Amino acid sequence: MAVTIKSEREIELMRESCRLLAIVHQELEQMIRPGITTKDIDVAGENLIRKLGCIPNFKNYNGYPASICVSVNDEVVHGIPTAKRVLQEGDIVSLDAGLIYKGYHSDAARTHGVGKISPEAKKLIDVTRESFFAGVKMAKAGNRLYDISNAIDAYIKPYGYGIVRDMVGHGIGTKLHEDPQIPNFAQKRRGFRLEAGMTFAIEPMINMGGWEVEWLDDDWTIVTADGSLSAHYENTVLITDGEPEILTLY
Ligand code: MF3
Ligand code: CO
Repeated sequence: MAVTIKSEREIELMRESCRLLAIVHQELEQMIRPGITTKDIDVAGENLIRKLGCIPNFKNYNGYPASICVSVNDEVVHGIPTAKRVLQEGDIVSLDAGLIYKGYHSDAARTHGVGKISPEAKKLIDVTRESFFAGVKMAKAGNRLYDISNAIDAYIKPYGYGIVRDMVGHGIGTKLHEDPQIPNFAQKRRGFRLEAGMTFAIEPMINMGGWEVEWLDDDWTIVTADGSLSAHYENTVLITDGEPEILTLY
């Protein structure tokens, strides 16, 4: 499959899809507090997505059973919401959400603290978000794909955190996952040249310990192999001839 270049009409639809997803994330962030369950977040998220006239794109994707991926503490991504998992003060929780608006997909993730969290956990969340911005700075026409990967890697390196390698960012548009794959760790080549009209989901997943991950028996939940905390930050981004447009930021 080739990397798609979106037309002006398609870009408008991507913008709206992403604007609506930003609203969903804002609402979900308000809910985060000790005592709620990960299922509460999924139910509220799916209801809001549908109220906005959109479709949750994660639901039934390769059999994934929910609309919002909710991953707590050492869970990296693809946690399955359940009424049994009650958020506790001091937890960190990653919310990954996406939707389809008039055939166009959006995808974004944020990690939040539950109540008061440790300074170490807060730093992991902050540095993960900052690494996205270091990467996205390179996401402009004329630069090359892996300039993004290399910038994220270089930003994380001094902190000694593990950069997850098994999952990567991706193109996005009429499908949730389009070409190309966008690793968050350094590449030996610079990759192809970026062009205006490409839309990417850039999504560093960063572990406080090592980069290695494992799959739980539910076949979805990915956890850090060493049990360390993990954070995730993702936006859908439009490549332009100038500064990138971060479409899922409120
Ligand atoms: N947001 C995830 C990604 O970037 C998609 C979740 S996979 C699903 O690839 F199966 F949960 F939908
Ligand atoms: Co994604």
